[in-house]
Order: sequence, then structure tokens, then C-alpha cells
Amino acid sequence: MKKENIYILAIESSCDDTSAAVMCNTTRLSNVVATQKIHEEYGGVVPELASRAHQQNIVPVVHQALDKANIDKKQLSAIAFTRGPGLMGSLLVGTSFAKSMALGLQIPLIEVNHMQAHILAHFIEEEGSESPSFPFLALTISGGHTQVVLVKDYLDMEVLGETLDDAVGEAFDKSAKILGLPYPGGPLVDKYARLGNPDAFQFPKPKVEGLNFSFSGLKTSVLYFIQRERKKDPDFVETHLNDICASIQKTIVNILMDKLKAAVKQTGITQVAIGGGVSANSGIRKALQEAEEDYGWKTYIPKFEYCTDNAAMIGIVGYLKYRMGDFSDQSITARARYVIG
Ligand code: KG4
Ligand code: ZN
Repeated sequence: MKKENIYILAIESSCDDTSAAVMCNTTRLSNVVATQKIHEEYGGVVPELASRAHQQNIVPVVHQALDKANIDKKQLSAIAFTRGPGLMGSLLVGTSFAKSMALGLQIPLIEVNHMQAHILAHFIEEEGSESPSFPFLALTISGGHTQVVLVKDYLDMEVLGETLDDAVGEAFDKSAKILGLPYPGGPLVDKYARLGNPDAFQFPKPKVEGLNFSFSGLKTSVLYFIQRERKKDPDFVETHLNDICASIQKTIVNILMDKLKAAVKQTGITQVAIGGGVSANSGIRKALQEAEEDYGWKTYIPKFEYCTDNAAMIGIVGYLKYRMGDFSDQSITARARYVIG
């Protein structure tokens, strides 16, 4: 007997990207992302502006996702949405929209943990891409999160370590801001770092117990360093930008790799998957490739489209939960803090 296709409409609105995707089983039919440009001029995400922009974007983004997938809403099997973690005002827009649409269409509603979705994005079927097998370690690195997770099964995960203060993306963005670069500065630090000497300047690595991270000290040491050097030479940043960026990036990548090595040692697991916007960073990609060669790890890096916040990753979790009959009812509410596990 032919198995019936499952069509999931997924909605993501946890931070500053409004996204909708349509999945057919594990395959993505569409994945539309409306990025909010408004935050650039403020040097960071402004929560109130984000929720207003989600309200404006959500209807056209959902329509586009259905159109691109060539799917009528009557064909949908279920609606999946990001319940948390994230900005409350932003989450509320996606949550309310998903609940109303599921109610209107009389189809199941499926809540998704955003952090689980970043990890399960590795299971979106793509030509030429390979998914990790269980158990594996996942490093989720973005502007909002930094976690090392032990993934035992699709929905059985344990957070082994996480940041105690800033997320790694914030470390990139805040350092970039000190250098006078526009928001989000992470990609620019990466761009200049490629042209610079990573050993030109030294920044201290934090001493944090276990598998947790801390990035706020790095930002402060970059600030003091720049202030000191500028006193001696007002053009210091302009004339040494590549070397400064390369040195900051090297420090951040070393902090991440030290913890990953410790997690591999602690668990004996050598399959490592990464996710989140900072996975685009050339330094971390190179370090992971080297770890494959030097330590025999097997590493997985998703397509860039699935690294940054997107609804396809919510859709794959929606599909997995649909198969398990794991549905939510209409009384469900968004959760700004939503721990995996
Ligand atoms: O996952 P994402 O799109 O949004 C969330 O924060 O959830 O991640 C955005 C973060 C920003 O901090 C941005 O600066 C950083 O990812 N980022 C990078 C690079 N590309 C994006 N950081 C360093 N190097 C990059 N190439
Ligand atoms: Zn995210």
C-alpha cells in the first residue's frame, strides 16, 4: 500500500525573522524567510519592533510559502509552530496565527522547541546531504544561543553545557560594534578575519567549569584593548582591522572547540553536528574540518539556509511529531524560556 504524504505548514517567529515553510514528509517544498531590516539602525534586535514586523509579515509569508510549494491549505495535514524559546512578543504572533489556522482548518496543531529544531534541521532531506545517526553531539551557535547538546534520539536530548552570559553570535556582534562595524557584525568580522593574522593579538579565554561557556569577558577585553591602542594611535582599528578580526575570531573558535573536545572526551561520541547562524563562520568550519582529519571526528554542517532561523527546521520537527501523534491543543501558550529535555 502506498503511504500517504504528510504536508506540514511550519511557522517560525521567535526572534527577528518571520518564516513559513511547507514540508512534504522530510522534504522541504518551500521555506520563505522575511528578515527584518529595521533592527540594523539600532545595532540589535528591538523586541517591540520585531513583534510589530511579524504581524505585518506573517500573512504574506504564509501565502508565499503555500504558493511556492504549490499546495492548497486544504491539503495540509497539520500546522507546526515555534513555541519557544525566544522573544515573547514575537513568539505570540506565530503562536496565535498557528492556533487560529489549525482551528479554522480543523487539523492538528504541533508545538516545536526552537533549539530542538536547530538540531533536527540535519534531518531535512537534501540531495547530497547526510544526516547524523544517534547518538551525536550538537553545537548550536547563534545570536541567541550557545549550547552543547547530547542527542540520543529525535526528541530525546540533554543539554550538556550552555552559555552563562552572552551567546557566541553576540560576542561577534558586540566586538564588531566596538570596531565600528554595523549590525550584525559577525559576518563582517569573518570577512576581515580571512585577510588577517590570527596570532597578531592575544585575548584571554574564560575559565568556565564543565561544558558551559562565557563570552562577556571577551567583549570587555576587546573594548579595553581597543581603547588602550587608540590612545597610542587613533587610527589603530582602521590600520589593523584584519588582524584584530582574525585574532578575535581565533579566540572565539578556540573557546568553542575546547568545549567540543571536552564533550567528545566526556561522552566518547565523535559525531558532531553544528547549527545556528554562527555555523556560517569560516573559522569554525575550518576547525571542524581539521578535527575530522586530526581526531577522526565525523562532522555535519547544514546548508546555510537551515543554519539561520527558518521554518523548514520547525517543519521537520512537526513531521516527526506528527508521525508520533504528538499534538498540542488550543490551550497551548508561547514560552520565552523553554528548556530542551
Ligand atoms: O541563527 P541566527 O540567524 O539568528 C539567531 O540569533 O537566532 O544567527 C545570527 C547570528 C548573528 O549574531 C550573526 O552575527 C551571526 O549569527 N553570524 C556570524 C556569521 N554569520 C552570521 N557570526 C560569525 N561569522 C559569520 N560568518
Ligand atoms: Zn535560532
